[in-house]
Amino acid sequence: MSGHGTPTPMTSHRCGPLSGVAEVPGDKSISHRSLILGAMAIGETRISGLLEGEDVLDTAKAMQAFGAEVVNHGGGEWSVFGVGVGGFAEPGNVIDCGNSGTGVRLIMGAMATQPITATFTGDASLNGRPMARVTDPLALFGAQTVGRKGGRLPMTIVGAADPVPVRYVVPVPSAQVKSAMLLAGLNAPGKTVVIEKEATRDHSERMLAGFGAEITVVEIDEGREITLTGQPELKPQVIAVPRDPSSAAFPVCAAIITPGSDVLIPGIGLNPTRAGLFTTLRDMGADLTYENEREEGGEPVADLRAKYSPNMTGIEVPPARAASMIDEYPVLSVVAAHATGKTMMAGVKELRVKESDRIDAMAKGLRACGVTVDEGEDWWQVTGLGPEGVPGGATCASQLDHRIAMAFMVLGMAAQNPVTVDDGGPISTSFPIFEPLMGALGAKLSHG
Ligand code: S3P
Repeated sequence: MSGHGTPTPMTSHRCGPLSGVAEVPGDKSISHRSLILGAMAIGETRISGLLEGEDVLDTAKAMQAFGAEVVNHGGGEWSVFGVGVGGFAEPGNVIDCGNSGTGVRLIMGAMATQPITATFTGDASLNGRPMARVTDPLALFGAQTVGRKGGRLPMTIVGAADPVPVRYVVPVPSAQVKSAMLLAGLNAPGKTVVIEKEATRDHSERMLAGFGAEITVVEIDEGREITLTGQPELKPQVIAVPRDPSSAAFPVCAAIITPGSDVLIPGIGLNPTRAGLFTTLRDMGADLTYENEREEGGEPVADLRAKYSPNMTGIEVPPARAASMIDEYPVLSVVAAHATGKTMMAGVKELRVKESDRIDAMAKGLRACGVTVDEGEDWWQVTGLGPEGVPGGATCASQLDHRIAMAFMVLGMAAQNPVTVDDGGPISTSFPIFEPLMGALGAKLSHG
């Protein structure tokens, strides 16, 4: 649970070249899904490389509360002894999902078609985020919800005792909504059909197939149509979680803007629904290469090599690419500030309902650091100051958002003056080893 402790300010000072090997933690999206699907299978699912950030640990606790046995063997090795589709027990207390939108929305989906009642809460950030995007379509299965005004947590869901299958077109580009519907569809008889107009991360589809569910994906005029046959017996799996491209984004971008840097980031998942940032950086002229490209556990993987790139130019990031890099815009805006010319990021309304309003959080901090940012409801534009051109020298609010805190720490590595965030605490939700990992590469991070 983040955001419950005393704020811990963190400062990033201009540093020399970053070099070495950055072994970033396991993928957050796949870690949540491994625990939840493991809990819905019958028998022992073994997971290695699980992200042990607060978000995922909160999901592990939640799965225990719903009756699964979850065992931490140490060193990222975990076991989940699942209770089967439809086998969740009613939790004896409120489920606290901390800072995690993915955790709460996916778990709501998983329990919504079971005859149990559960109450969910989170930190101040999560309790401010929209949940109706999940609870409205879950009502189609027969689930009932009572929450705060505007569909906010804390919220109680009464799961459907006799769920019916659903056909639903997801109105926003959201893998969380899609996944909540698919997890709910698991315990509805017959075929549940979910259609997304824009492709979002497809880990749920891949993993459901891996666990033995009958699931098909076809392209139709409306978009991607996913059909899931309900009430399968999910088979426990052995899962090696790939390293998180969204965490890799920070050492990659830090190396690209910090003079003289050369950093290797091995074993990064390059699922096309996640790799948009890397394509964008290459389009801007960044020296970023993929080495040793291979496939691991059904996902494309490569070692990334990122080098200082003083000749980057601003671009218009294609809106169609937004879903594949939605979590990476904050750190992209830091790179954009070091490029020559303007970088336009459009079609990104979803950024306003993440752990923070990420356009607002980055725009305010970048402006305080001397960078010009223009913005509208669903777009923002950063005017680059060229390599080593960002003044820095400000304290920025992280707004209970791990990615905002890390983006400003990256900014400080190449800015002329130190950059501070008012609270570095949220970083541990997704990247608990950020500070030692970046420090080992040569970053100068301090507390206060
Ligand atoms: C996630 C989906 C995305 C992303 C989040 C993880 C997932 O959220 O921002 O960090 O694992 O499904 P949305 O579904 O709200 O786009």
